[in-house]
Amino acid sequence: MRTLVVGAGGMLGRQVTAACHERDHEVVALAHAALEITNPAAVDAALSRYRPDAVVNCAAFTDVDGAEDDEAGAMRVNDEGAALLAAAAASVGAKVLYPSSDYVFDGTRSEPYVESDLPSPLSAYGRTKQAGETSVAVANPRHFIVRSSWLFGLGGKNFVETMLRLGSEQPEVLVVSDQIGCPTYTRHLGEACALLVEGEAFGIHHVAGGGECSWYEFAQEIFDQAGVECRVMSATTGMLARKAPRPAHSVLGSERSDAIVLPHWSSGLAAYLAERALEAAA
Ligand SMILES: NC(=O)c1ccc[n+]([C@@H]2O[C@H](COP(=O)([O-])OP(=O)(O)OC[C@H]3O[C@@H](n4cnc5c(N)ncnc54)[C@H](OP(=O)(O)O)[C@@H]3O)[C@@H](O)[C@H]2O)c1
Repeated sequence: MRTLVVGAGGMLGRQVTAACHERDHEVVALAHAALEITNPAAVDAALSRYRPDAVVNCAAFTDVDGAEDDEAGAMRVNDEGAALLAAAAASVGAKVLYPSSDYVFDGTRSEPYVESDLPSPLSAYGRTKQAGETSVAVANPRHFIVRSSWLFGLGGKNFVETMLRLGSEQPEVLVVSDQIGCPTYTRHLGEACALLVEGEAFGIHHVAGGGECSWYEFAQEIFDQAGVECRVMSATTGMLARKAPRPAHSVLGSERSDAIVLPHWSSGLAAYLAERALEAAA
């Protein structure tokens, strides 16, 4: 099959591209410089040119705090651009996969969120992802909405990199302990996306690292596994003011009989640290 990966230079886009290659897809990978998804003519031209069987849209406005000041800009990419791409995919008979986020939920439940739970985003970013989910579903019936959370992996800004940098600069870090979620290794999620687009299991999928933890526990595990001496101090969300509100408990579960189960987040972390070390040695 031929798979078009858009936003292919981003953290998830890189891994989806690699996973599609590994699964013997014929892959066309377009980074931002090669395709601007808010440009209708460029989107139509790319779809007519490559005529893929599936499109994986990894292009997104992902600055959660930045979206609070530029919701319209985030909406252009996460909703309008995503809709353009989904419609253009439909026009050439291609399926579309849209990664979405746990931030579509408000985090007030104590149980994991499943696919049929109603979104109620707290932040501008969450609203743009919820809008994108709906627009993609309307534009292309052959869609996969893949909600994931707390991504880490090569080639992007992520919590693991931030902790390793801070851990090398200072003896202690302050990390919130009252937000709980599922850290997800982009390689594991990328493999799941490549597998999904081969099939016909359309609709919403929750796909996140197994288990759950707070950012505080995640930071402790990062330093333990990386062998970094840095004390993690527990903070509350209120103590560390961020522009965008975050859900307190956005653990993702699945009610699907065909749910894709990813390895535990701590195994994802171990695999990432190993991959990162290999890359540094190369
Ligand atoms: N990161 C997380 O924790 C997380 C959690 C849950 C869900 N997700 C979702 O997962 C997906 C991938 O996220 P990620 O973490 O891989 O993000 P990322 O590393 O920020 O990658 C996004 C990519 O999209 C590109 N892009 C931005 N605007 C574009 C446009 N208008 N046209 C074409 N390309 C554009 C960016 O290019 P430039 O850098 O050149 O702008 C970047 O390469 C997103 O849908 C995100 O909402 C992420």
